[in-house]
Amino acid sequence: MALITKRVYGAEDVLPKDSYKWQFLEKLMREEAQSFGFKEIRTPVFEHTELFRRGVGDTTDVVQKEMYTFDTKGGTSITLRPEGTAGAARALLEHALYNDGLPVKAYYFVSCYRYEKKQANRYREFHQFGLEAYGTASPAADAEMICAAQSIFDRLDIGERLTLELNSIGCPDCRAKYYEALKKYFEGYKDKLCDTCLSRLERNPMRILDCKSPICSEIAKDAPVVLDYICDDCREHFESVKRLLDSSGVKYKINPRIVRGLDYYTRTVFEFVTDELGAQGTVCGGGRYDGLIEELGGQHMPSLGFALGMERLLALLGAAEKTIPDFDKCGLYIATMGDKAQEKAFELVKQVRSYSVRAETDIVGRSLRAQMKYADKIGAEYSMVLGDDEIERNKAEIKNMTTGKKSEISLDKDFGEGFIRVKIENEDNPGACFFTKEK
Ligand code: HAM
Repeated sequence: MALITKRVYGAEDVLPKDSYKWQFLEKLMREEAQSFGFKEIRTPVFEHTELFRRGVGDTTDVVQKEMYTFDTKGGTSITLRPEGTAGAARALLEHALYNDGLPVKAYYFVSCYRYEKKQANRYREFHQFGLEAYGTASPAADAEMICAAQSIFDRLDIGERLTLELNSIGCPDCRAKYYEALKKYFEGYKDKLCDTCLSRLERNPMRILDCKSPICSEIAKDAPVVLDYICDDCREHFESVKRLLDSSGVKYKINPRIVRGLDYYTRTVFEFVTDELGAQGTVCGGGRYDGLIEELGGQHMPSLGFALGMERLLALLGAAEKTIPDFDKCGLYIATMGDKAQEKAFELVKQVRSYSVRAETDIVGRSLRAQMKYADKIGAEYSMVLGDDEIERNKAEIKNMTTGKKSEISLDKDFGEGFIRVKIENEDNPGACFFTKEK
């Protein structure tokens, strides 16, 4: 029979055989975020369209070309979030989270939706892990934010494969002078710019710099750079961020051409890029957004953050041939012969599972041979055969499926504990992996 439908173009399934990789990364990121004092925030997958128009900016590619926007049956315009920052900022204001003391530090895992041209490592549904800190203008916050991202990459042993590119795009004051210079430059190419960029010329010429059209991006290559126009305060802020990064041992490269594709940024912007993922080499991006909270109707609250793309991070780990440990592995498979053995096996797997170890027994009704084949297929670490004889003796042998070594174990109420003891004794290096905090 033909399939009823396929998945939507640009969206991916995470299959059971791969989900442990996501879970591993999520666990590691939660630990890192918590160790820097961030707490999780979960916001809805959709928001009022106006939030992104005002927050992300209505001259950005994201808002002008890429949003999944629709009217509800009640006539409200809703948009699937193209990123996580605007929704988190909306929640901060709606729940007055700033009353609990500043800075407010939040982290999130979000699915995002952008109607972009699909390419390798560019999707229409993708996932981000992000950190946001609200209510601090200090350059120390910029440095700490960058250190948090760097710490995740170091823990994954890919810090050396990413380059941190850093820039300052100034404040609205210095931006005015820069806009004039950009306007002057792009006016010379009026006949070549795409229609969207022509309209940006008046309203927001900086957005021409991240237009994806090949002609506009070629023209943009020689445009003036913002770092030449920033004011003394912004320059001093930038110098402090650099000094703090230097003292933390975080390496960076100044890239005066980074402007980021979203309108809310001010001052420090940064990206972690790699040349191992082809054209979509930006794994992480972020920066300061001192005006966003005010733009959304709140008081002045300097803030900042970053988000990293989970799919790109996984692709980079794959390219770097890093093996992610599969803690989902079946610890024990109990093969059974007869009804009595099946009943006993149900009791025994329950005991092992109470130690959070995966234990399985036959629920299909297979022959003993087929059960053992299945244990092999799922990569069970240990197996055990249970028949009338074992039940009578109240003892059975568990077999290490890799080494073939057998150990006798009693089937009484301490079976679970006994199994864990054998497992630990037999492991060369239990729980060891290269993703350790100490590394
Ligand atoms: P962004 O640079 O648009 O920033 O996205 C952050 C990351 O999400 C990118 O570096 C990339 O890894 C991933 N990403 C973006 N688009 C796609 C796509 N189409 N397919 C796969 N991965 C993608 C933001 O979204 C800001 N909200 C970051 C931020 C947080 N700034 C301050 N706080």
